[in-house]
Amino acid sequence: MVKEIKDNILYFDGCNTIELAKKYGTPLYVLSETAIVENCKEIRETFLNKYERTRAAYAGKAFLTLAMCKLIEREGLCLDVVSGGELYTAIKANFPGGKIEFNGNNKSIEELELAIDYNIGRIIVDGLDELDLIEKICKEKGKRTNILYRITPGVKSDSHDYIVTGKKDSKFGIPLDDEVIFPAVEQAINSPYINFLGFHFHVGSQLHNNESHLKALDTALKLIKDTKDKFNFVTPELNVGGGFGIKYTEGDNKKPYSYFLDPMMEKIEKFSEDLNITRPEIVIEPGRSIVGEAGITLYTVGTIKDIKGIRKYVSVDGGMTDNIRPALYQAKYEGIVANKAQEPKTDLVTISGKCCESGDILIKDIEVAPLERGDIFAIFSTGAYSYSMASNYNKNPFPATVLVREGKAEIIVKRQSYDHMIENEVVPKYLTK
Ligand code: LLP
Repeated sequence: MVKEIKDNILYFDGCNTIELAKKYGTPLYVLSETAIVENCKEIRETFLNKYERTRAAYAGKAFLTLAMCKLIEREGLCLDVVSGGELYTAIKANFPGGKIEFNGNNKSIEELELAIDYNIGRIIVDGLDELDLIEKICKEKGKRTNILYRITPGVKSDSHDYIVTGKKDSKFGIPLDDEVIFPAVEQAINSPYINFLGFHFHVGSQLHNNESHLKALDTALKLIKDTKDKFNFVTPELNVGGGFGIKYTEGDNKKPYSYFLDPMMEKIEKFSEDLNITRPEIVIEPGRSIVGEAGITLYTVGTIKDIKGIRKYVSVDGGMTDNIRPALYQAKYEGIVANKAQEPKTDLVTISGKCCESGDILIKDIEVAPLERGDIFAIFSTGAYSYSMASNYNKNPFPATVLVREGKAEIIVKRQSYDHMIENEVVPKYLTK
C-alpha cells in the first residue's frame, strides 16, 4: 500500500506529506510512481503477457506530462492522445511515434498533419469526413497512415451521463447504420493512402460492471463478420477502449483488469475460431485505472465557518480549479487530515474550495479529526482527470505536481506563477494612455 500512517502523519509512497506540503506548497498534486508501476504491471501480467498480440495504450487525457510519457514508455505501454497538445507533449518527450494512437471527435487539419508528420501508429477516425482529410494530407505528403474506425456501439453504461460515450445518441464514433459504416469501410480498404486496421469502441468511464463492454464487443464482432462477408477483409485489429473503474470511496468496488478483459478475450477467441480467422490484435486504452488511485492532493486549511445546526464549512486553498470533478459530476471523494491522521474523527465538516461558486465543494459531509487553520488536508484518488482538467478560474494558478517513490520526491510540474498566468495577455495600445 502506498498510503501509510506513521506518528499521526499520512505518508504517501514513503514520503511524509506534511514535509511535501512545506517544501512544495499547496495545493499540491502528489503522484506515486510505485502505484503507477504496479498498475502497469497488472496490465502486463494479466493481459499483455497472458494474451499474444495485445497492446495497452495509456489514455493520456487522464494525466499527461513529459515525465508521465517517460514512465508510460518505460512500463511498456503505448499512448493514446486526443489533441495536438497531448501529441506535442508526447513528441517533446520523444515518445515513439509508432506507439501513439490519436483519438478525438474533431481533429483539426493541423493536428492531423502533426500526427502524420510524426508517423504515429494509428489514427482512430471518429467521423466520415475525417477519412477524406487524412487521405488528402497523406496524398500531399506521399504517406500512408494506419487507421481504425471508432464506432458507436449503441450501448448504455452505468456511469455519470457526461462520461458515457457508447450510446447511439453521442458525439463520438460512427453510427452503425449499414448505409453509413459499410461505404466508409469500403473507402478505407480501397484507399491507396490508408492502411485500414479495424474498429475501436469506448463505452464509458469509471465502470465497475463489464456488461456494456461485453455488449459493445458483440456489436463489434458482428461488424467484423459482416466486413469479412461483404469485402472478404479480415479485420487485423480491435480496440476495446478504457473505462475500468477505480476506488474513490469505500462504496466503490474496484475490479481487476481481468474481470473486464478475460471474458472479452474468451469471446473474441471463440469468435475467431468459429469464423476461422486469425484473431484480431486487441488493444485497450486505460486512463483512470493507471493514475487515479496513484494520486492525492494536499491542501492547506484556511477559513472555517460553523453555521450552527446547519453545516461546518472548512475552506481549503484549492477547489474546483484543481479538481472540477465534484462540481461537474457530483463525484465523491474521501480524505483525511494529513497531520492528524490517527486522531479520532469527531467532526462532521464540508470541505469547500476557494472559488467564487457555491458549487465549489470538494467533499460534502465528511467525518474528520477536528480541523484548524494551517492543517493539511489530503484528498485521495485524485491522480486522474484533476490536473488534466484544471483551470485558472478566479486566476488561481495551476498547482505543482510531485512524483514520489519510496521516500523520494521529484517535481514534475512546477507551480504556475502569477506572471506565467498572464504572460499571454496583451493590452491594446489605446488602453495604455
Ligand atoms: N479511450 C477513449 C476513446 C476515451 O474517450 C477515454 C475516456 C478513455 C479511453 C479512457 O477512459 P478511462 O480508462 O480513463 O475511464 N473527465 C471524466 C472522464 C472522461 C473520460 C473520457 N474518455 C472524469 O473525470 O470522470
